[in-house]
Amino acid sequence: MSYILAIESSCDDTSAAVINDFKICSNIIASQKVHEKYGGVVPEWASRAHQKNIIPVVDTAIKEAGITKKDLSAVAFTRGPGLLGSLLVGVSFAKSFSSALNLPLIDVNHLEAHILAHFIKDTPNQKTPSFPFLCLLVSGGNTQLIYVRSPYDMEIIGKTIDDAAGETFDKVAKILSLPYPGGPHIDKLAKQGDIKALKIAESHIPDYDYSFSGVKTSILYTLRDKLKENPKFMEENLNDICASVQHRVVTMLLKKMEKAAKDLKVKDIAIAGGVSANSYLREKLTELGQKNSWNVFIPQFQYTTDNAAMVAVAGYFKFLKKDFTTLDKTAYTR
Ligand code: KG4
Repeated sequence: MSYILAIESSCDDTSAAVINDFKICSNIIASQKVHEKYGGVVPEWASRAHQKNIIPVVDTAIKEAGITKKDLSAVAFTRGPGLLGSLLVGVSFAKSFSSALNLPLIDVNHLEAHILAHFIKDTPNQKTPSFPFLCLLVSGGNTQLIYVRSPYDMEIIGKTIDDAAGETFDKVAKILSLPYPGGPHIDKLAKQGDIKALKIAESHIPDYDYSFSGVKTSILYTLRDKLKENPKFMEENLNDICASVQHRVVTMLLKKMEKAAKDLKVKDIAIAGGVSANSYLREKLTELGQKNSWNVFIPQFQYTTDNAAMVAVAGYFKFLKKDFTTLDKTAYTR
C-alpha cells in the first residue's frame, strides 16, 4: 500500500490529493475568486493566495484520506508549465515537506497529468484507455493533439499556433460582457441557441495544427456591423452568438482529431483539460466515436479543471518506475 501526496499550484487553484494505487483518497481544491473581477488570472494575486491556501489544503487532504504524514511513501508536485510565482509555492512546499519527512520527490508535468487523469480508478471496473491512444488536450492555455504511446511516452502531433480553445471562449465571453472564466457561461447559453445563426470564420491550417484567433476577430467584426443596425443585437441574440461560436470551435477541434485518429489508426480517443467540461464537445466527441467505432474517454467533471488528483496519478506512474527527482530541480513555465 503506497500513499502518495500530490500538490498542484500551476495557475489559480491550490490543490492537494492523496492517491493509493490508482484510487483517489482525497482531492482538495481551493479556487481563487479574487481574479473574477479582473477578467483573468492576476499572477501576483494567484501566488499570494497559494501561499495562504497551501498548508490548510494539504492538511485537509491528508486528514480526508484517513491517514497521517507517516503513512506517505512519496510527494508529487506540478513542476510546470504554469505561472512561475504560482508554481514556486507548490514546488517549494513539496521540496520542504519531502525533505522534512525524508520522502522521495516526484516532479510532474501539468499537461501530462491532465491526460493521465483518465487512469484514475474511482471504481474497480472503471474503463481506461488502451495504448496507444489519441488525446485532445484543451484548456485555457493549451490546445494540443497528443499521441499517447504509454504513460511515459507522449508526442504532441498538433497544437494551436495562436489562441487556445479555452482562451477563445474566455475572450469571446469578454466581448459579450460575460463573467470570467467565460467557457462555462458560453456552454450554458449556447444550449438555447442556434448553431447556424452566425457565420464564424473557420481557419485552414496545415497538418494537425489549430488557429482560433480568427473566431474572436470574426465575432468582433460581425458584432460591429450588426450593432450598427440594431444596438440591442448582442442582448437579443446572446444564445445564438454563443451557440455559433461554440459550434465553430468544437467543429475545428474535432475535424483535426478525426483526421489524426484515422491516420494513426487508433481505436481509443480522449479529451482532457478545462474545456473538456464543455457539454457540446462531449456530445460531438461521443458522436464521433460512435460513427467510427472508437472508444471515447471523457474525464469526470472534477478532473477536468486543475486538480491534484491528476498530479497524483501521474506521480504514481513515476513512482512505479522509481523515477524520482532532486531538490535542485526548479519550476518551469513552458
Ligand atoms: O485546464 P483549465 O482549468 O486551466 C487552465 O488552462 O489554466 O482550463 C480553464 C479553461 C478556461 O478557459 C475556461 O473558460 C474553460 O477551461 N472551460 C470551459 C468550460 N469549463 C471550463 N470551456 C467551455 N465550456 C465549459 N463548460
